[in-house]
Amino acid sequence: MCGIVAYVGNKPCQQLLLEGLKRLEYRGYDSAGIAVLEKGKLRVCKSIGRVQNLEDKLEENGGLSGNLGMAHTRWATHGGVTDINAHPHIDDKVGIALIHNGIIENYASLKTYLEEKGHTFKSQTDTEVLAMLIGELYEGDLERAVQAALREVTGAYSIAVICEKEPNVLVVARKGSPLIVGIGNGEYFVASDASAIVSHTATAFTLDDYNVVKITPEGFHTSTIHNVPVTPRIEQLEIELQEIELGGYQHFMRKEIYEQPKALRNCLRGRIDVKEGRVILGGLAGLAKELTKLRRVVLTAQGTALHAAMIGEYLLEDLAKLPAVAEYASEFRYRNPIIEDGTAVIAVSQSGETADTLAALREAKERGALSLGVVNAVGSSIPRETDAGVYLRVGPEIGVASTKAFVGQVCVLTLITLFLGRRRFMSTEHCSELLKALDSLPEKIEQVLTQDEAIRKVTEKYCDRENWLFLGRGYNYPTALEGALKLKEISYIHAEGMPAAEMKHGPIALISEGMPAVFIANRGRQYDKVMSNIQEVRARGGHVIAVATEGDHEIKRYAEDVLYVPDIAEPLSPMLTVVPLQLMAYHAAVIRGHDVDKPRNLAKSVTVE
Ligand code: G6P
Repeated sequence: MCGIVAYVGNKPCQQLLLEGLKRLEYRGYDSAGIAVLEKGKLRVCKSIGRVQNLEDKLEENGGLSGNLGMAHTRWATHGGVTDINAHPHIDDKVGIALIHNGIIENYASLKTYLEEKGHTFKSQTDTEVLAMLIGELYEGDLERAVQAALREVTGAYSIAVICEKEPNVLVVARKGSPLIVGIGNGEYFVASDASAIVSHTATAFTLDDYNVVKITPEGFHTSTIHNVPVTPRIEQLEIELQEIELGGYQHFMRKEIYEQPKALRNCLRGRIDVKEGRVILGGLAGLAKELTKLRRVVLTAQGTALHAAMIGEYLLEDLAKLPAVAEYASEFRYRNPIIEDGTAVIAVSQSGETADTLAALREAKERGALSLGVVNAVGSSIPRETDAGVYLRVGPEIGVASTKAFVGQVCVLTLITLFLGRRRFMSTEHCSELLKALDSLPEKIEQVLTQDEAIRKVTEKYCDRENWLFLGRGYNYPTALEGALKLKEISYIHAEGMPAAEMKHGPIALISEGMPAVFIANRGRQYDKVMSNIQEVRARGGHVIAVATEGDHEIKRYAEDVLYVPDIAEPLSPMLTVVPLQLMAYHAAVIRGHDVDKPRNLAKSVTVE
């Protein structure tokens, strides 16, 4: 969603800020803007569309010079996509500029108050209200004015503020929306996402909620909105620059699909002992007692992470014999959920910042659940708020359509299942056998990737069709949902995923001559039933594309096209069967001429409800 970059130091900052914005483009946005203090005067430029449009506009106007500035990418919430609604927003009276991620929930009452005080608003945004409020409360000290304004605000925010009256000062603050300060040599870099600053410095600290930081080239001062001093924890960022660069690939999504074997190796490293049938999860080690007493697990997430959570539900019940349920975080949090003794909630999230997932986690915690996180982004909000958790370790995911994070999430949920299973009913031998299979997964994904061209050809045959079905059963029902979601997200083809048996209860009416139906038909407990479902589609003129187990020649009699994956224990199969579906979605988007890494309307991390 929205992105923030800001700089204070000794360098001209326009280019640096634009480069930062480009690193944040993947998060999804629809307009961009920049403000620089040029010889003590605020200069602002904004544009709808891509960061490139902003860059072109700046060039036409001769650019901005100055060593203190900030820039923003906006994903519209309050007010349409217009230059005026783009950030920064300005308070003219004092000369304050502000950029903001999040939502000011009480903006309407604040607006009325400010209008009564004589302020007039140009935009329809909640952000402009905050800029004016800071201006209204300004009494010669920007840091104090920001603290005072934020004490009046409800909602979520990360903000950066500059002021003509204090030309060396940048003030930033956070509540519920991430913000990081990178420390250089006499210079500071602020961003909502570490990827925007890693090319400058690896030394950084993350703001906690309600923290305000005043930064000048000489140093910084951190306090709460109540002006209580805070000592931030300075850390070294672990992100490598190459992890957030294309490195020869045309798109991040493709790069990340190809990174999956490596990502899984990293995820598994040091965590499995195949011989002893043991899973070592440092993140859960301190909870041995609570975990043995577990009676129920609620997995909660949104989007792709929910599909991983659904596979987690199957894994936990099947292998660890623990009652489990996966739920949309957005539904779970509002439906008065019952949390009994011995319940753990697992929040599954790539970013660790998804607003609904975070809120569901808080709700469950409040009702007494043990809270666990399965998260990729280290130090993000979810792991900061959970009792314990396991990181994915798959590296930063830039592609908006999640791929390697999905296999990472399923892999970690498998590890947690085996970890718990061994403490319950699972034998060493059974665990060993599954760990051996898990260990072979990266290589098997590599084998699937070698069929990329064949997958592209099959996709090409069908990608002019506007309606697709994805069908699977058991462990691969969530995989079908994920395949449909991938196709929708980046190729804008209408696709529905469902349990193969459900098709007969309505969706079968959709099947017409030539409609593509993708079946996940690998060998498993319900193979024969899937074959029957395939025949039902064929009988109505649908074209079947089957994802099948290598060596299954029989299936060619029923399916127009077959994409093979190596054989693997059924509970682990979604991590293999999803790969051809990811590649199909990727190729469909490329063939249809869409911008794979910047799909329309989507945001990488949805930090508003
Ligand atoms: C957005 C993204 C999806 C992602 C979902 C959950 O909708 O576009 O790719 O699956 O959020 O995100 P999370 O960071 O919690 O996994």
